[in-house]
Amino acid sequence: MFTGILHLHVLTVMLFIIIHLTKVVLMMFDKEEALEKVSKMTKVPHMIIGTLLLLTGIFLAMNSGSLGQWFWMKLGVFVVAIPMSIIGLKKKNKALSLISLMMFIYIYGMSETKNTSFTKNEANPTETQLTDAKAIYMNYCQNCHGKDGTLGLSGAADLQETEMHLEQMKEIIANGKNAMIAYKNTLTPEQIQKVAEYVQNLGQRNN
Ligand code: HEC
Repeated sequence: MFTGILHLHVLTVMLFIIIHLTKVVLMMFDKEEALEKVSKMTKVPHMIIGTLLLLTGIFLAMNSGSLGQWFWMKLGVFVVAIPMSIIGLKKKNKALSLISLMMFIYIYGMSETKNTSFTKNEANPTETQLTDAKAIYMNYCQNCHGKDGTLGLSGAADLQETEMHLEQMKEIIANGKNAMIAYKNTLTPEQIQKVAEYVQNLGQRNN
């Protein structure tokens, strides 16, 4: 679900930019008639895409463990770029339109590089955090999941392949599932957070 919404979000951002780009290019070359046509044609789709973009963005933000600084930057740029693009197109102001287009592309670039780690901690875990988390993992999880997460004892899932996001993982680690033991009485919420982040990075570290 989370990954699906994430893909939908990136897709809407892409479509949104393509429509805006088309309009700006037409404006740059003074193709007034074509611009009018495109604006009319894309009016409804543009609104739907914009709404989807916002809704998926809100969903992602609410379901992420922690929102990094980049998220607020992205949101800030977006909030400024939207009115700029609307005014730019209305007043046929090339500079405004171009700047807003560049802002959208900047946001898109950020979502491409950062969205994959939407649920992950903003920065790479520091050395000490990593050893802590690793120690927890080796102590409590290795028996069933193996050193690299692929062991799969008593039906344990391959942790390198898991598509779960952080919140779901924390939930399973805390409350258990089938043969998987609940850890909420053994580990503190902080430790659960750390070990979940560690598990999330398992696949990446070995790739
Ligand atoms: C007694 C064996 C055992 C231990 C110990 C254990 N697990 Fe599990 N784990 C399982 C099993 C079995 C499943 C599959 C549960 C299911 O889907 O029915 C699982 C599933 C998971 C999942 C879900 C993966 C997915 O994609 O479905 C995560 C995440 C996970 N374990 C993390 C951990 C962490 C972190 C620890 C240590 C704190 C741990 N496990 C300790 C047996 C274990």
